[in-house]
Amino acid sequence: MCGIVGYLGTRDAYPIIIEGLKRLEYRGYDSAGIALFDGTDLKVCKTKGKVSDLETLASKEITKHGNVGIGHTRWATHGVPNDVNSHPHISNSGDLVIIHNGIIENYDSLKQELKSRGYTFKSDTDTEVLINLIEDVKKQENVKLGKAVQIALNQVIGAYAIAVFDKNKPEEVVIARLGSPLAVGVGEDEFFIASDASPFLEYTKNAIYLEDEEMAIIRFHKGIKVRKIKDDSIVPAYVQELQLNLEQIEKGGYEHFMLKEIHEQPKAITDTYRGRLLRNEAIIKMAGVEDNMKKFLNANRIIIVACGTSWHAGLVAEYIFEDLARIPVEVEYASEFRYRNPVISENDIVIAISQSGETADTLAAIKLAKSKGAFVFGVCNVVGSSIARETDAGAYTHAGPEIGVASTKAFTTQITVLTLMALRLARAKGTISSSDFRQHLLELELIPKKVEEALKSDAHIKMIADIYKDSRNCLYLGRGFNFPVALEGALKLKEISYIHAEGYPAAEMKHGPIALIDENMPIVVIATKKGHYEKVVSNIQEIKSRKGKIIGIVTEGDVQVKELADHVIEVPETLEFLSPLLTTIPLQLLSYHIAVLLGKNVDQPRNLAKSVTVE
Ligand code: F6R
Repeated sequence: MCGIVGYLGTRDAYPIIIEGLKRLEYRGYDSAGIALFDGTDLKVCKTKGKVSDLETLASKEITKHGNVGIGHTRWATHGVPNDVNSHPHISNSGDLVIIHNGIIENYDSLKQELKSRGYTFKSDTDTEVLINLIEDVKKQENVKLGKAVQIALNQVIGAYAIAVFDKNKPEEVVIARLGSPLAVGVGEDEFFIASDASPFLEYTKNAIYLEDEEMAIIRFHKGIKVRKIKDDSIVPAYVQELQLNLEQIEKGGYEHFMLKEIHEQPKAITDTYRGRLLRNEAIIKMAGVEDNMKKFLNANRIIIVACGTSWHAGLVAEYIFEDLARIPVEVEYASEFRYRNPVISENDIVIAISQSGETADTLAAIKLAKSKGAFVFGVCNVVGSSIARETDAGAYTHAGPEIGVASTKAFTTQITVLTLMALRLARAKGTISSSDFRQHLLELELIPKKVEEALKSDAHIKMIADIYKDSRNCLYLGRGFNFPVALEGALKLKEISYIHAEGYPAAEMKHGPIALIDENMPIVVIATKKGHYEKVVSNIQEIKSRKGKIIGIVTEGDVQVKELADHVIEVPETLEFLSPLLTTIPLQLLSYHIAVLLGKNVDQPRNLAKSVTVE
C-alpha cells in the first residue's frame, strides 16, 4: 500500500514524480503529495484525494521546479486521509523530508519519547514520528543523514520503504526497505526511486531492487551505495535489466485497466503455459517442480496460503490437485495461518499464491512455514517480488502487469499454473493415464480460444448488468470446481460496485441463505453441463419457487436451465476441472458493467489498494 516515487538528476523532477505517482496510484489513492527542492528551498505540496487533485493544487502552489524530489500516493494506515496526514512529512526543524510506505508498529512509544524531548507533531501518522526520530538521532549523534537513518531504523519495529532527503544537502537521497518494495532506476547521472519500476520505464531499463533490511545512499554524480541496515556493511548493488515495456502498463484503448485485463486473458493464459505445456511431446515442463519432484512426490499434503482472489485460486487448485494428483490439500487464509501455530511436518509442501508477491500476510505465512522446516513454493505474477524471492522455488504466472485493483487475469493465470502443476504431478504419480493426460493437455491448449468465445457475451452481459445494477444484494452459487468461482464472482461484485454479495456452495443455500431469497434477489448460478448439473438444476428450482431472479452461467447449447432461469450466459464446453477458467469470465464482466453503470471508479475502488503490504 502507498506508492512512492523519487528523482535525483538533471531533469525537472516534478513531471517525473507526478506521472510516476499516477502509475502507482493503484497502490493507494486517498491522498497524495510531493516535496521538491527548487534550487533554493524545499517546497511541499500535499492533499487529500487523488494525484489529479495534487496536480491541481501544485499548479497553484509550486511555481519553481527543481531536480530533486519525492512523491507519495497514500493508502491510510495511521490517521484518516486528510491534508495533514498526507505525505511527505517534514521534521521539526523543517530540514528533513520523508515519504513512507508501511507501518511503524512502535510509533507510539517513539512518539512519547520524542515528545518528552520537545518534539511536536502535526499529524497522526507514524511517518512523522520516524522523520523526527531520524532528525533527533542526526543531532544527538552528530552524524550524516545516511547514518542517522540507519541508527533510527534499528530502533523501529514494523515495515517500511522510505525515501528521505535534507534540504541542506539536496544532492543526496537516502532510501531503505523492510517488508515494502523499493526499486531504483539507474540512468545516466540520474536516479529514479519507486515502489515498482513502472514510473521510470521510459527513462531506463536498469534497476536495482533493494532487499529487505537494506538501505541505499544515492548521491548525484557519485552513484549509489547499498548497505545493510543492521550492521552498516556494504552490499554489492546488483543492476538488472527490466523486461517490462511501457505498452504493458498502459490502457491500450480500453476505458479501464480492468476491462483491458479481462480481455487480455486469452493471451495471458497462453503466456502462462507457453514453454511449459509441450503437447507434441506430451509433457509438462516446470523447472520449479522438476527440480523438487522428490519433495512433491513424497508430500503428505499441500497447504496453500493466500489472500483474497489468490485464495480463491487456491480453492480451485484444491479441487484440481485432489482430483488429478490425489494429494490432500488444505487452503488457508495467510492471515489466519500465520497466527495460529499451524501443525506443519517436514513432508508438507506449502504453496503461496500472490499476484503482487508483496502481500504482507502471505509473506509472513511463508516465513512461518519455512521456520518450521516446510518447503515453500511460490506462485507469483510480479517477477522479483518479495514472495518470489522468499520462497524455495516457484513458478511465475506471466500474466503481465495487473493494474486494475480488482484481480482478473491474475486469477485465471494462477489457476493455469496450478493446473499445470497438478497435471505434471498426476503424471509423475501415475494417478492419471497417459491418454487422459494427452487429452487434458489438448483441452488446456484450447482454453484461450474458448475464453475469447466467452468474452463475446460482453454486450449481453452489459444488458443483464443494466437490469440488476440497482440491487442491494446478490447471491452467487456454484458447486465443485465452480464453488470457488462463486466466491470470486461475489468478491468482484462487492469490491467494485459496493453491492453486497455472497458466494455459497449451491447446496448450502438451503442451510440459511435461502431465507434471503425473494423477488428482489438476483442469484447467479454456475450450472455447467458436467458440474453436478442435475443437482444444481434442483437448486435453481428451489430458487425459482421463491421468486428469486436467476442468472445462469451455462454450457453452450444448454436447454434445461434456459427454461428455468431469467437470463443465461453461455460459456463453451470444456473438461469440468478446466471450467473455472471459462465461468469466471462472465462474472468478471458482470461486475465490471454493473460498476461502470453505477458510475463507480472501477480501477480504484474505495478503501482498497492493489498491493496489501500491511497486515
Ligand atoms: C481482489 C483482489 C485481492 C487480492 C489480495 C491478494 O480482486 O485483488 O483480494 O487478491 O489482496 O493479493 P495478492 O494476490 O497480490 O497477494
